[in-house]
Amino acid sequence: MKQLHKQSSAVSHRRDEESATAGGAAKTLKHSAAARSLPRSINYLFKEQRLLFILVGILIGATFFILQPSLSRISPSDTTSALSRSSSFRGESITSRDNQFSFPTTSHFKVGRVPAALRQRRLRIVVTGGAGFVGSHLVDKLIERGNDVIVIDNFFTGRKENVVHHFVNPRFELIRHDVVEPILLEVDQIYHLACPASPVHYKYNPTNVMGTLNMLGLAKRIGARFLLTSTSEVYGDPLEHPQKETYWGNVNPIGERSCYDEGKRTAETLTMDYHRGADVEVRIARIFNTYGPRMCLDDGRVVSNFVAQAIRKEALTVYGDGKQTRSFQYVSDLVDGLVALMDGEHVGPFNLGNPGEFTMLELAEVVKETIDSSATIEFRPNTADDPHKRKPDISKAKELLNWQPKIPLREGLPLMVSDFRNRILNEDEGKGRK
Ligand SMILES: NC(=O)c1ccc[n+]([C@@H]2O[C@H](COP(=O)([O-])OP(=O)(O)OC[C@H]3O[C@@H](n4cnc5c(N)ncnc54)[C@H](O)[C@@H]3O)[C@@H](O)[C@H]2O)c1
Repeated sequence: MKQLHKQSSAVSHRRDEESATAGGAAKTLKHSAAARSLPRSINYLFKEQRLLFILVGILIGATFFILQPSLSRISPSDTTSALSRSSSFRGESITSRDNQFSFPTTSHFKVGRVPAALRQRRLRIVVTGGAGFVGSHLVDKLIERGNDVIVIDNFFTGRKENVVHHFVNPRFELIRHDVVEPILLEVDQIYHLACPASPVHYKYNPTNVMGTLNMLGLAKRIGARFLLTSTSEVYGDPLEHPQKETYWGNVNPIGERSCYDEGKRTAETLTMDYHRGADVEVRIARIFNTYGPRMCLDDGRVVSNFVAQAIRKEALTVYGDGKQTRSFQYVSDLVDGLVALMDGEHVGPFNLGNPGEFTMLELAEVVKETIDSSATIEFRPNTADDPHKRKPDISKAKELLNWQPKIPLREGLPLMVSDFRNRILNEDEGKGRK
């Protein structure tokens, strides 16, 4: 047995030696093969100008990434909103507090390179009241900027005709919906305009509180940025002139106009509460009298009243003594201000209006100059709680939003006349009246 064991261990020892020798030989072979293949690879590279082609390829790739801005850069706000949107897909359980921790401030998003896969995405934006006067102009601007736009409107004072030119555009959607009922959508930004803005309409449909509450709830749920279109009416019959954002106002809480004035004040309160209590990103615009094409023809607002009356050859109706003042801003100026506010970093409130101040009688004169110099003026008793004067102080918007209106009344008025003429002509033919 011992003999047998000795023989077998000798055999295994020999095998080890053989395999060690074989391994050594293989290593030597590999080394020498590698040594031979190195000059061969270099030769291969230099043959047929292969190295030149590789270098040219690298150069083209680098140039593409440096010069293509949408691939190499995204703006801070786009990054934030892109993140907030992606968070919205995580579902309802995400609270705004989660958002606060998930979304670093814009200082973390200084302009920088990003991989092509994170290419800038189009913003998806809701405009409530988007079929109305201001809303439809805002939609035009957002679509022109390349955003996806969803309009929510119940057509109480809005008209499909105001947005019909977008119907063929796949980036545009229109939903008939009353904002006093909740709705669930996935969007990045909410411009909340839905609310009748003229005295003849808002008395019958005060949507401010419930509509704003629902839209703030939506903003909180999906982490969207929310902009409220408030009004200079929050200053009531002002005791400070011109009105700054710091002025708290002088509003009759039980008057005929108070459903609108106090409704907007409550909407502002809700907006700030959602901001403070639930970290919703909000913006507040206080809009002063705005005019332009697509205003309702007979809604009791002074510019549309005068223009329609002058075109129909009726007397211009002045309420009270006509010495009360207002400031009139052309709609494109307002739209620029709203977009600057939404895109900017400041909550507000911001006055958005044209500080040019006119008495009602002066306005009537401008309308006569523009449309019909033979138009007459008819005085009527003034309406209840009509503010004596209104003029925005816009220094805050100038400084922080870099915004100010560009179009004076005498330039803006003619721009709405042809739209009004067409609609009044169609109305007389029985086609256009709502
Ligand atoms: N135009 C101005 O001079 C002015 C001044 C101050 C504030 N604002 C504010 O700007 C916003 C837009 O005003 P506008 O002049 O375009 O008025 P508008 O009446 O032309 O537009 C309001 C739009 O909201 C829609 N709407 C009303 N109630 C709704 C509801 N419950 N659900 C869904 N849609 C509804 C209407 O159908 C209409 O399309 C309003 O919030 C208004 O208070 C306007």
